[in-house]
Amino acid sequence: MRVGVAGCMGYTGFELVKLLDKHPNITSEVLTARVPDSVKKDPRFSLLLNDRTNPKISTLEDADFSSCELVFFATPHGVCMEHAKKLFNKGIAVIDLSADFRLHDPKLFEEWYGIQHSAPELLDEAVYGLPELNRANLAGANLVAMPGCYPTSVIIGVLPLIEEKCLIKTLLADCKSGVSGAGRSANSATIYGEVAENFKAYAVHGHRHLPEIKQEVARIINKFKEQSNSDNIEIQFTPHLLPMFRGLYSSIYVELTEDIEQDGLTELYKTRYAGEPFVRILPKGVLPETRFVRESNEIHLYVNKFEGSSYLNILVAEDNLIKGAAGQAIQVMNLVFGFAETSGLK
Ligand SMILES: NC(=O)c1ccc[n+]([C@@H]2O[C@H](COP(=O)([O-])OP(=O)(O)OC[C@H]3O[C@@H](n4cnc5c(N)ncnc54)[C@H](OP(=O)(O)O)[C@@H]3O)[C@@H](O)[C@H]2O)c1
Repeated sequence: MRVGVAGCMGYTGFELVKLLDKHPNITSEVLTARVPDSVKKDPRFSLLLNDRTNPKISTLEDADFSSCELVFFATPHGVCMEHAKKLFNKGIAVIDLSADFRLHDPKLFEEWYGIQHSAPELLDEAVYGLPELNRANLAGANLVAMPGCYPTSVIIGVLPLIEEKCLIKTLLADCKSGVSGAGRSANSATIYGEVAENFKAYAVHGHRHLPEIKQEVARIINKFKEQSNSDNIEIQFTPHLLPMFRGLYSSIYVELTEDIEQDGLTELYKTRYAGEPFVRILPKGVLPETRFVRESNEIHLYVNKFEGSSYLNILVAEDNLIKGAAGQAIQVMNLVFGFAETSGLK
């Protein structure tokens, strides 16, 4: 199958091209960059592009995707929404790594992203691309909104506790990410001198991933509202910047609505994720570390009930560029087009 990648020079775009190169069923046919000549001169691409991988490279405006069945958008928010409809109408599927189609309410999008949505009529078409939550809706989808890197870790972290019967009263997500989470464009806040040997919180008064986490949690609870014992979870989220390039770690503190012991919780998580190829529940005493998931599509989870307390700590590690972005987008592509879910990712 032939695919296009818009924004191939960015951090997630490059990871996509690299992973697609190893996928047995895929050819990256069209790549876009704002300065097309810069791609082949870039050392990352000069190591990757060869006789076998020889894509057409152009600007997004000039790109001819007619030979592609799918286009990935690894561009900032506001870009995909300008192109999705044209591709959609031509029967070319779109997997968008940006936030353009994540929030279903265009007013909420405008409030958090500061721009008006130019394709609100497509918002209902978009499937939220978290396979562990939405696998059944992904087969044959024409437009997929990939989750943010933090929401991926938080939603997978609490999913077993909110499906069927909501067991959560309060959810506090204390999350950390490496600087690649902010993208490759020049920004003084993420240069080495500002980040090295330092650690800090940011966006404490509201991060764009908060409404996304709230939206998806509410949707899950609503789906099971008949049997649920709670329909109102308080959710708070604080992101932090780690002095490293890639990797994301979430410590999620949860107050339970009923008393469940450690063994019961471990069993709940193991049962829920038994069939998931990329979610690993770590055994007692083995804690997640970002280095164990580096360049991998796996997400590592550890569930720790504080003794004598109604609180629980869920620790989650992922690679923000892989399970938090490019790897998960390929997992989704596999599900949309009926390839083996792990194809190109093991
Ligand atoms: N980084 C992460 O961990 C992560 C995780 C999940 C989702 N995301 C989302 O994925 C998207 C890409 O993230 P990233 O980290 O890869 O960003 P990035 O490193 O800044 O790359 C963005 C790319 O988009 C291109 N671009 C910028 N403005 C454009 C425009 N107006 N038209 C066409 N192309 C444009 C740039 O092209 P040139 O280089 O050619 O100028 C750049 O290569 C973002 O929406 C981000 O929020 C990122």
